[in-house]
Amino acid sequence: MVERGRETPFTGQLLNMRLKNALSIALVSSLLIVPATAQDVEWGSDAPPAIRNAYQTSDPELQELLKQMTWKEKCGQLTQYAGILTGPQPIKPELFERIGTGEIGSVLSVSEVERCRRMQDEALKTRLKIPLVFAFDVIHGYRTIFPIPISEAASFDPELAAEAARISATEAAAAGVNWTFAPMVDLARDPRWGRVIEGAGEDPYMGAVFAEARVKGFQGEDLALPDTLAACAKHLGGYGAAEGGRDYDTSEISEMTLREAYFPPFEAAMEAGAVTVMPSFQETAGRPSHANTYLLEDVLRDEWGFPGLVVSDYGAIEELLNHRIAGERSDAGMLALDAQVDMDMMSDIYRKLPRTPQTEEAVDRAVMRVLKLKKELGLFEDPYRYLDAEREKATVLKPEFRKAARRAAARGAVLLENRDSVLPLSLEGVKRVAVIGPLADDARSALGEWNLVGRAEDTISPLQGLEENFSEQGIEVVHAQGCPSWEEDTSKIDEAVALAEGSDLVILVLGEPYDATGESRNRTRIGLPGSQLELLRKVTATGKPAVTVLANGRPLTLEEVKEVSPTLLVFWHAGIEAGNGLYDILVGREAIGGKLPMTFPRNVGQVPLYYNRKTSGRPPVPGQEKYRVDYHDSPLTPLYEFGYGLSTSTFDLSTPKVVSPPGVWPLKLQVTLTNTGDRAADQVPQLYLSDEVRSVTPPRKELKGFKRVSLDPGKSRIVTFSVGRDDLSFVGLDMKRTFEPGWYTVAIGFSSSAEPNFRLRLNESGFQERAEI
Ligand code: NOJ
Repeated sequence: MVERGRETPFTGQLLNMRLKNALSIALVSSLLIVPATAQDVEWGSDAPPAIRNAYQTSDPELQELLKQMTWKEKCGQLTQYAGILTGPQPIKPELFERIGTGEIGSVLSVSEVERCRRMQDEALKTRLKIPLVFAFDVIHGYRTIFPIPISEAASFDPELAAEAARISATEAAAAGVNWTFAPMVDLARDPRWGRVIEGAGEDPYMGAVFAEARVKGFQGEDLALPDTLAACAKHLGGYGAAEGGRDYDTSEISEMTLREAYFPPFEAAMEAGAVTVMPSFQETAGRPSHANTYLLEDVLRDEWGFPGLVVSDYGAIEELLNHRIAGERSDAGMLALDAQVDMDMMSDIYRKLPRTPQTEEAVDRAVMRVLKLKKELGLFEDPYRYLDAEREKATVLKPEFRKAARRAAARGAVLLENRDSVLPLSLEGVKRVAVIGPLADDARSALGEWNLVGRAEDTISPLQGLEENFSEQGIEVVHAQGCPSWEEDTSKIDEAVALAEGSDLVILVLGEPYDATGESRNRTRIGLPGSQLELLRKVTATGKPAVTVLANGRPLTLEEVKEVSPTLLVFWHAGIEAGNGLYDILVGREAIGGKLPMTFPRNVGQVPLYYNRKTSGRPPVPGQEKYRVDYHDSPLTPLYEFGYGLSTSTFDLSTPKVVSPPGVWPLKLQVTLTNTGDRAADQVPQLYLSDEVRSVTPPRKELKGFKRVSLDPGKSRIVTFSVGRDDLSFVGLDMKRTFEPGWYTVAIGFSSSAEPNFRLRLNESGFQERAEI
């Protein structure tokens, strides 16, 4: 079997090395097969310029610098090492020493101007004075922590995500950071996986839209400006598909699914100009991503033409030993280098790469990419460009940043139930509010996972926000924790019930503590942890008007929660302004208009359950369970579907119209959205298309457009959806994108359960005819 479509100058050597290892032979033979294509060229000097340029910059200054570098200096540039986040700890002497000897090109997890400046001073004492690039996981904010990314996706407002990324970049860059390891653009179909908090959910289109927004937000107009960060699209290789939702575990994905579902957000990040990429930790089809030449060369470099830098994940090059495709550290290094992983985060293997004619060329290529990134960031021009203590002081935690975080907290909220129309709250006659639950007074959990320097003391917890705002209205707030957030303990439930009984209104803040989600925080049961369900049952049994607010990092199983909570709100881990944002939506200062970016299943047994799965040859038929796709002990349907979320007003959607002329792309569809209720509110019309028959089985339906709209009562807005030919392309049996003419079912509505409106026949030149259903 051909290992891949292209040979590199040292493929032969690597194959020999692999042949030494019986295990690796077995694994090599299970690589994804890539058909030989026009891209079957060597990357050396004989390659056509377009391909060659994708591998190395022709920048004469950098070429000159490269010529002057020793082997040790080159390997140093490829090495990234961890610093110290923040606070008073001294910089490790070992790190200082290595910077001073030019053995480190980048420091990760470091920020604060004074600290970064001391390291940069040291780097500039080296022979060639090559500046360091400082990297940091600015995932949903630096000090001003925004809601977790899945909440931003739930806002269905990509401009909001772009603004959050813009502010985060401004703040982090003022604190010395040059490069963020974000956005995470991994598709997630399994809510057990802890890292669903970091992405945009289960849909490739949503993933692509938010990937673009976030990359543009971080990188701004020009990387050399002092308020922009280099972005990193991560983790390439189907990371979200880890079996059983177990972070780092194997994913088993066909090449077609990888291309159809997992790649589009990366492709969007590439188009938006993301300058760095990180592969995933796990393996797919016998190849860990850090050694997957199909993924990192054939697809990323050749097909997508990515000219930027690939940084390894933390220690992932060394982990090739655990994956058992390398027997020695140097073999692991060679495999990663061969796959064009340019920078080694924390394995410390590239620092000692063996020097051979083959590695020399590959190392030069990688070094050029590192130098190019530093140049684009403006670090050669001024290594202290991002190290201005005054700017740091004036920028970090600016009040206007907090204001944006408050709005973001509100916009990510999703209203699951409002059976008694309690929301927005009417405060008439309300004198006393009981705020109950373990997540109410937990500022740390409000911040959510993945914030490195966010501080609980900067954070307005739900309790604090409600206390401060209600007291301004002359309303007293009382609080009981009721039970811990994680452990079973029912001893304080009665006290909470008594408090509820003595109040006019109850706000329960339940959910997951921050450390139940995030990297390596997977769960097998995704209901409310500990004794929270019992607390909820007993408090709602008092009959007091109650709002159940969920502070969660992933979709939860909520069957009983739904039953006992007439008013149910998903608020996620909503960031530094969580409490104020919560108050705003409860009282209607901000509209609740978010939608679920991931399916909420009824039970874990249904997982994975996502709206755009295939139909199967035996699709479900209501009332007919046998010999159909179904469960014997559970409905097949989710509890809350993708795209679901209530509004606090009523809306009417006109029958869609095709407004583009026949035979032209893009296809344009128009609907009129009208707020038929009596208060200003938000709604999100969503366009779903379903290809009726094609050569590759189509998904049941696919999101192709959405727009969050705010409307005053009685007002209307026309929403236009534009769909290009490429938007309807799919991955064919030859693994290439293709478009097939035929009939498509159109459904525009307020969730993925939208009823079909009509059918359209589309061909190469565009819309042809319309038919009723
Ligand atoms: C491991 C994570 O997988 C990655 O996303 C992150 O950027 C690095 N650690 C660095 O903190």
